[in-house]
Amino acid sequence: MSSETKPIGLSGVKPTGRPHIGNYFGAMRQFVALQEEYRMFVFIADLHGLNLIQDASMMRELSLGVAIDYLALGLDPSKTVLYRQSDIPEITELSWILGTLTTMPYLMRAHAFKDAEAKNKDINVGTFTYPVLMAADILIQDAQVVPVGKDQEQHLEIARDMAAKFNTTFGETFIAPKSVIMEDVATVPGIDGRKMSKSYDNTIPLFGSDDEIVKAVAGIVTDSRLPEEPKNPDADNIFALHKLFSTSVLPDIERRYREGGMGYKESKDILREHILDFVRPLREKREAILGDVSTVERILDEGGKVARERAIIKLDDVRKKTGLR
Ligand code: ADP
Ligand code: TRP
Repeated sequence: MSSETKPIGLSGVKPTGRPHIGNYFGAMRQFVALQEEYRMFVFIADLHGLNLIQDASMMRELSLGVAIDYLALGLDPSKTVLYRQSDIPEITELSWILGTLTTMPYLMRAHAFKDAEAKNKDINVGTFTYPVLMAADILIQDAQVVPVGKDQEQHLEIARDMAAKFNTTFGETFIAPKSVIMEDVATVPGIDGRKMSKSYDNTIPLFGSDDEIVKAVAGIVTDSRLPEEPKNPDADNIFALHKLFSTSVLPDIERRYREGGMGYKESKDILREHILDFVRPLREKREAILGDVSTVERILDEGGKVARERAIIKLDDVRKKTGLR
């Protein structure tokens, strides 16, 4: 299929720091896989990121870092349009228009808002209207498919509702986007067994150094069963990670867990080697790209032009339909 006839896939990534293996299995690797089947649009959600990162040099560094991460993972600029959200001002205009069709009680039901409110945080308006901006990201490119982690499913639902609301109010304009969620690894557990997340400090960094990986694996929390005791693989944090990294020997590990005879130390040793084998080539590729940052800047500029041309045409239609001109 030529890139023009492929269906459109789109996803955004916030520039919030170093990715971990949860990000990789839950979201990042999908973009690389999907670029064969879809015409992918992947962008750095720097405007969303501004809710948290309020320092210019940090914003620049983290935004560029995300682009480098994806290129290292195999995102191919000849197949995927890679761009910065803030290079497309039409997104923020559409976000305003969608906001006028959205009620406050509706947005107050969003998980992200409720979580922030439960923590009794002073929530900024940007956090409150986060799902509206995200809907604009998606709808402005006519995206059919949006690969995201499970926790973003509600945001996709909101985007679909907004497309429908606009369509019934002003006439058929937007496509309802579908989410693609990889159910089998929907949530990757961290070294303490909770969801792996930057905010829990329980991550294994995707491009980590050997030392970091060794330390993270050593820190995986287990119960105190002795090596010879039978163990339930489904209740063990090490085994949960074997499912991702030790697929070739998984039945053997599982059998030894159930029969007894595999200690947590041995299990960790095996896991550590598998994670190192996985991470090392990715880390080397990333370092090579880091040595040629001007190429990365050029890829982002070119991607921005392609994405913006499409956004201008779409917003033009929206402006006409809403009577803004
Ligand atoms: P974090 O929880 O570390 O702050 P983000 O919220 O930045 O991660 O998530 C970025 C993307 O990675 C999202 O699409 C999210 O669904 C996915 N993701 C994050 N953590 C995990 C996890 N433990 N398992 C699966 N997917 C995850
Ligand atoms: N909210 C997404 C996240 O936290 C990032 C994002 C912003 C996004 N805009 C998007 C994802 C549009 C998919 C489509 O991971």
